[in-house]
Amino acid sequence: MSTVAVMPQHQADPEVQSSLQQRVNDIIDSVMASLPDLHQLTHEERRGIIARYAAVLEGNFIYWMTAALLPVQSEDARPHLLENLHEEVRDAHPAMLRRFALAAHAFPTDQDALAVHEDMTRVRLFFGRLSAVQSLLTMAFFEGFIQRFMVYLAALAAAGGSTEMEYTDVHGVCDIAHTDGLFRALFSEMAVNPLGEGEDLFEGVALLRNLIETIIFARVNGRRV
Ligand SMILES: [Fe+2]
Repeated sequence: MSTVAVMPQHQADPEVQSSLQQRVNDIIDSVMASLPDLHQLTHEERRGIIARYAAVLEGNFIYWMTAALLPVQSEDARPHLLENLHEEVRDAHPAMLRRFALAAHAFPTDQDALAVHEDMTRVRLFFGRLSAVQSLLTMAFFEGFIQRFMVYLAALAAAGGSTEMEYTDVHGVCDIAHTDGLFRALFSEMAVNPLGEGEDLFEGVALLRNLIETIIFARVNGRRV
Protein backbone atom coordinates (compact mmCIF):
# COMPACT_ATOMS: atom_id res chain seq x y z
CA MET A 1 0.00 0.00 0.00
CA SER A 2 1.31 3.46 -0.84
CA THR A 3 1.79 5.99 1.91
CA VAL A 4 0.84 9.64 1.84
CA ALA A 5 2.65 12.55 3.47
CA VAL A 6 0.50 14.51 5.90
CA MET A 7 -0.27 18.00 4.62
CA PRO A 8 -0.26 20.45 7.55
CA GLN A 9 -3.41 22.21 6.32
CA HIS A 10 -5.29 18.93 6.66
CA GLN A 11 -4.37 18.37 10.29
CA ALA A 12 -7.40 17.88 12.50
CA ASP A 13 -8.52 20.79 14.62
CA PRO A 14 -6.64 20.70 18.00
CA GLU A 15 -9.98 21.08 19.78
CA VAL A 16 -11.31 17.99 17.99
CA GLN A 17 -8.12 16.14 18.95
CA SER A 18 -8.33 17.03 22.61
CA SER A 19 -12.04 16.26 22.81
CA LEU A 20 -11.40 12.80 21.30
CA GLN A 21 -8.64 12.14 23.82
CA GLN A 22 -10.88 13.36 26.62
CA ARG A 23 -13.73 11.10 25.52
CA VAL A 24 -11.39 8.08 25.53
CA ASN A 25 -10.03 9.07 28.94
CA ASP A 26 -13.58 9.40 30.27
CA ILE A 27 -14.40 5.86 29.10
CA ILE A 28 -11.25 4.54 30.79
CA ASP A 29 -12.14 6.45 33.97
CA SER A 30 -15.59 4.90 33.90
CA VAL A 31 -14.22 1.36 33.52
CA MET A 32 -11.67 1.95 36.30
CA ALA A 33 -14.34 3.35 38.62
CA SER A 34 -16.40 0.20 38.10
CA LEU A 35 -13.67 -2.25 39.17
CA PRO A 36 -14.81 -4.44 42.07
CA ASP A 37 -13.22 -3.87 45.47
CA LEU A 38 -10.32 -6.31 45.69
CA HIS A 39 -11.12 -7.11 49.29
CA GLN A 40 -14.64 -8.20 48.39
CA LEU A 41 -13.44 -10.77 45.87
CA THR A 42 -12.94 -14.45 46.56
CA HIS A 43 -9.75 -16.22 45.52
CA GLU A 44 -11.58 -17.73 42.53
CA GLU A 45 -12.92 -14.36 41.44
CA ARG A 46 -9.44 -12.80 41.57
CA ARG A 47 -8.01 -15.76 39.65
CA GLY A 48 -10.76 -15.48 37.03
CA ILE A 49 -10.05 -11.83 36.23
CA ILE A 50 -6.32 -12.52 35.73
CA ALA A 51 -7.06 -15.63 33.68
CA ARG A 52 -9.58 -13.95 31.37
CA TYR A 53 -7.24 -10.98 30.94
CA ALA A 54 -4.43 -13.37 29.94
CA ALA A 55 -6.79 -15.33 27.66
CA VAL A 56 -7.53 -12.15 25.71
CA LEU A 57 -4.23 -10.29 25.81
CA GLU A 58 -1.69 -13.04 25.18
CA GLY A 59 -2.94 -14.00 21.75
CA ASN A 60 -4.51 -10.78 20.56
CA PHE A 61 -2.51 -7.69 21.45
CA ILE A 62 0.17 -8.05 18.75
CA TYR A 63 -2.47 -9.34 16.30
CA TRP A 64 -4.69 -6.28 16.85
CA MET A 65 -1.80 -3.82 16.75
CA THR A 66 -0.81 -5.40 13.43
CA ALA A 67 -4.39 -5.10 12.21
CA ALA A 68 -4.26 -1.39 13.04
CA LEU A 69 -1.01 -1.01 11.10
CA LEU A 70 -2.05 -2.80 7.90
CA PRO A 71 -4.58 -0.24 6.55
CA VAL A 72 -2.67 2.88 7.64
CA GLN A 73 -1.93 5.31 4.79
CA SER A 74 -0.21 8.12 6.71
CA GLU A 75 3.54 7.68 6.72
CA ASP A 76 3.65 9.67 9.96
CA ALA A 77 1.41 7.13 11.67
CA ARG A 78 3.43 4.03 10.88
CA PRO A 79 6.50 4.59 13.11
CA HIS A 80 4.38 4.68 16.28
CA LEU A 81 2.81 1.35 15.47
CA LEU A 82 6.05 -0.27 14.30
CA GLU A 83 7.90 0.84 17.42
CA ASN A 84 5.19 -0.64 19.58
CA LEU A 85 5.22 -3.95 17.68
CA HIS A 86 9.00 -4.06 17.74
CA GLU A 87 9.03 -3.79 21.52
CA GLU A 88 6.26 -6.38 21.93
CA VAL A 89 8.14 -8.93 19.84
CA ARG A 90 11.71 -8.14 20.96
CA ASP A 91 10.83 -8.28 24.65
CA ALA A 92 8.43 -11.22 24.19
CA HIS A 93 5.51 -9.59 25.98
CA PRO A 94 3.23 -12.61 25.46
CA ALA A 95 5.81 -14.74 27.32
CA MET A 96 5.97 -12.09 30.06
CA LEU A 97 2.18 -12.18 30.44
CA ARG A 98 2.14 -15.97 30.55
CA ARG A 99 4.77 -15.92 33.33
CA PHE A 100 2.61 -13.45 35.24
CA ALA A 101 -0.51 -15.63 34.90
CA LEU A 102 1.29 -18.86 35.77
CA ALA A 103 2.93 -17.34 38.85
CA ALA A 104 -0.51 -16.12 40.00
CA HIS A 105 -1.91 -19.65 39.49
CA ALA A 106 -4.27 -18.09 36.97
CA PHE A 107 -3.34 -19.71 33.68
CA PRO A 108 -6.58 -19.65 31.66
CA THR A 109 -8.73 -22.78 31.66
CA ASP A 110 -11.08 -23.73 28.86
CA GLN A 111 -13.90 -22.10 30.84
CA ASP A 112 -11.94 -18.84 31.12
CA ALA A 113 -11.33 -18.85 27.37
CA LEU A 114 -14.98 -19.61 26.64
CA ALA A 115 -16.18 -16.84 28.97
CA VAL A 116 -14.58 -14.23 26.70
CA HIS A 117 -15.10 -16.10 23.43
CA GLU A 118 -18.08 -14.22 21.99
CA ASP A 119 -16.98 -10.70 22.86
CA MET A 120 -13.41 -11.43 21.75
CA THR A 121 -14.68 -12.76 18.41
CA ARG A 122 -16.64 -9.54 17.84
CA VAL A 123 -13.45 -7.51 18.38
CA ARG A 124 -11.49 -9.81 16.04
CA LEU A 125 -14.08 -9.37 13.30
CA PHE A 126 -14.06 -5.60 13.82
CA PHE A 127 -10.26 -5.43 13.34
CA GLY A 128 -10.65 -7.70 10.31
CA ARG A 129 -12.48 -4.90 8.54
CA LEU A 130 -9.15 -3.04 8.43
CA SER A 131 -10.64 0.37 9.10
CA ALA A 132 -7.56 2.49 9.88
CA VAL A 133 -8.96 5.37 11.91
CA GLN A 134 -11.40 3.22 13.92
CA SER A 135 -8.67 0.66 14.65
CA LEU A 136 -6.15 3.31 15.73
CA LEU A 137 -8.63 4.85 18.15
CA THR A 138 -9.47 1.41 19.52
CA MET A 139 -5.78 0.65 20.14
CA ALA A 140 -5.23 4.06 21.77
CA PHE A 141 -8.09 3.20 24.14
CA PHE A 142 -6.63 -0.28 24.71
CA GLU A 143 -3.15 1.02 25.55
CA GLY A 144 -4.55 3.69 27.82
CA PHE A 145 -6.73 1.17 29.64
CA ILE A 146 -3.92 -1.36 30.03
CA GLN A 147 -1.62 1.24 31.57
CA ARG A 148 -4.28 2.30 34.09
CA PHE A 149 -5.32 -1.31 34.85
CA MET A 150 -1.83 -2.54 35.80
CA VAL A 151 -1.95 -1.47 39.44
CA TYR A 152 -5.22 -3.38 39.90
CA LEU A 153 -3.98 -6.44 38.00
CA ALA A 154 -0.80 -6.52 40.11
CA ALA A 155 -2.86 -6.22 43.29
CA LEU A 156 -5.04 -9.17 42.21
CA ALA A 157 -1.92 -11.30 41.77
CA ALA A 158 -0.31 -10.08 45.00
CA ALA A 159 -3.50 -10.87 46.94
CA GLY A 160 -3.04 -14.47 45.81
CA GLY A 161 0.58 -14.49 46.99
CA SER A 162 2.40 -13.90 43.71
CA THR A 163 5.53 -11.77 43.51
CA GLU A 164 6.07 -12.05 39.71
CA MET A 165 5.33 -8.49 38.59
CA GLU A 166 7.48 -7.88 35.51
CA TYR A 167 4.45 -7.72 33.19
CA THR A 168 2.55 -5.19 35.29
CA ASP A 169 5.69 -3.14 36.03
CA VAL A 170 6.64 -2.89 32.34
CA HIS A 171 3.13 -2.04 31.13
CA GLY A 172 2.32 0.46 33.82
CA VAL A 173 5.18 2.62 32.52
CA CYS A 174 5.84 2.08 28.82
CA ASP A 175 2.23 2.31 27.73
CA ILE A 176 2.02 5.99 28.70
CA ALA A 177 4.33 6.83 25.77
CA HIS A 178 2.59 4.26 23.55
CA THR A 179 -0.84 5.76 24.16
CA ASP A 180 0.41 9.22 23.28
CA GLY A 181 2.07 7.85 20.12
CA LEU A 182 -1.14 6.10 19.10
CA PHE A 183 -3.13 9.30 19.41
CA ARG A 184 -0.56 11.12 17.26
CA ALA A 185 -0.82 8.29 14.71
CA LEU A 186 -4.61 8.56 14.81
CA PHE A 187 -4.57 12.30 14.16
CA SER A 188 -2.11 11.88 11.27
CA GLU A 189 -4.29 9.21 9.72
CA MET A 190 -7.48 11.23 10.18
CA ALA A 191 -5.85 13.99 8.12
CA VAL A 192 -5.18 11.81 5.08
CA ASN A 193 -7.63 8.92 5.37
CA PRO A 194 -10.72 10.14 7.24
CA LEU A 195 -13.58 7.95 8.30
CA GLY A 196 -16.47 7.72 5.82
CA GLU A 197 -19.84 9.38 6.29
CA GLY A 198 -22.08 7.59 8.73
CA GLU A 199 -19.32 5.43 10.25
CA ASP A 200 -19.03 5.37 14.02
CA LEU A 201 -15.53 6.37 15.11
CA PHE A 202 -16.07 4.67 18.48
CA GLU A 203 -17.42 1.35 17.13
CA GLY A 204 -14.28 -0.60 18.02
CA VAL A 205 -13.89 1.18 21.34
CA ALA A 206 -17.40 0.10 22.32
CA LEU A 207 -16.74 -3.53 21.32
CA LEU A 208 -13.44 -3.59 23.19
CA ARG A 209 -15.03 -2.01 26.25
CA ASN A 210 -17.61 -4.81 26.26
CA LEU A 211 -14.82 -7.35 26.10
CA ILE A 212 -12.92 -5.67 28.96
CA GLU A 213 -16.09 -5.67 31.05
CA THR A 214 -16.49 -9.37 30.37
CA ILE A 215 -12.90 -9.91 31.54
CA ILE A 216 -13.70 -8.11 34.77
CA PHE A 217 -17.29 -9.09 35.44
CA ALA A 218 -17.80 -12.55 33.95
CA ARG A 219 -20.17 -14.51 36.09
CA VAL A 220 -18.37 -16.73 38.53
CA ASN A 221 -20.46 -19.57 39.90
CA GLY A 222 -23.58 -17.88 38.63
CA ARG A 223 -23.08 -14.44 40.08
CA ARG A 224 -21.53 -11.31 38.68
CA VAL A 225 -18.48 -10.30 40.69
FE1 LIG B 1 3.04 -5.38 25.82
